[in-house]
Amino acid sequence: MEGLAGEEPRVVRLVRGGPALVEGPVRIVAEDGEEVESDRFVVAICRCRRSERYPLCDTGHRRPRRDPR
Ligand code: FES
Repeated sequence: MEGLAGEEPRVVRLVRGGPALVEGPVRIVAEDGEEVESDRFVVAICRCRRSERYPLCDTGHRRPRRDPR
């Protein structure tokens, strides 16, 4: 299977209860239009929305959730 540019498709790995791991470099466009770039070899994209560095994962998904009162 080939991508648009004739390259292999980019691999995205979903971590159970955690981020989506994407081969970098990437440019992420958030819902509000903010763009975040990362040139890391693998970029962890937050799926839980608990990251203080959203849309990038800061491992906040590992912290216990606050008890909603
Ligand atoms: S997935 Fe890691 S902080 Fe959200």
